[in-house]
Amino acid sequence: MTRHFLRDDDLSPAEQREVLERAVRMKQDRWGERPLAGPKSVAVIFDKSSTRTRVSFHVGISDMGGSPLIISTASSQLGGKETAADTARVLERQVAAIVWRTYAQSGLEQMAQGTRVPVVNALSDDFHPCQLLADLLTMQEHKGELAGLTVAFVGDGRSNMGQSYLLACATAGMHVRVGSPAEHSPEPDVVAAAQRIAAETGGSAIVVHDAPAAVADADIVVTDTWVSMGKEAEKAERVATFGDFKVDQALMARASPGAVFMHCLPADRGFEVAADVIDGPQSIIWDEAENRLHAQKALLAWLLERNAA
Ligand code: CP
Repeated sequence: MTRHFLRDDDLSPAEQREVLERAVRMKQDRWGERPLAGPKSVAVIFDKSSTRTRVSFHVGISDMGGSPLIISTASSQLGGKETAADTARVLERQVAAIVWRTYAQSGLEQMAQGTRVPVVNALSDDFHPCQLLADLLTMQEHKGELAGLTVAFVGDGRSNMGQSYLLACATAGMHVRVGSPAEHSPEPDVVAAAQRIAAETGGSAIVVHDAPAAVADADIVVTDTWVSMGKEAEKAERVATFGDFKVDQALMARASPGAVFMHCLPADRGFEVAADVIDGPQSIIWDEAENRLHAQKALLAWLLERNAA
């Protein structure tokens, strides 16, 4: 059966470790592995805007000897004109993998059901698992062994980042706390899945509605925009609702001494994070952004190998 990467828990704890170890090696020897030599093409489809994801997949596929085929949905037949399953059947005859940034998770599931090549979620409304592989790689570089570390995600718990933090960090054996307003809590089934995984890995996963409680003694503090793509009409209401969940120096002072700050970018300075935090000495956001490249290369190489076996 074809392996896909649609959500963070599509990788077992052992598989997640394998991908991260491979990312470390591929970062050290950037052009050493060429699983896409041919060149084989990888379709990278965008229903939403992107800088980091577009650049890192394009560069990463090229680094591995392949040819990135960047497709904007607006200029394709996908999205209203053709089903995801039909697009998948067409693409699988010509590309080695399909990477898709879209809205509904169900679209990715339909795409995956319709194809023999791996499908990778490059961000949906529910999850952003490629970002989390990069985030875990970055945490490992700065804090060492992931298992046992405490990470606090502060902000929109129902966002793709909030939900991916729960699943990916539980898989890594971390203690993950999401601090969000009650009405923006992660979906209960995602929290339950994270708690099931954490019970196996020795981690934990909790949701609290108080930012200082979420970050208390945390090793890593993370936030993301309060206005995810597709939520622009709710901006004023969201800014009012999330006001107590801004990451500023006072909140960072509650974390562990030596805590680091992360943000997947793009950032709204002055809203979810104060400028002196994101641009300050605790911030590791530029390593995080670079690691999209290395983590995604490792993931693609791993998926191609698994699916060839
Ligand atoms: N973090 C992230 O996914 O960035 P882009 O939206 O620029 O791809």
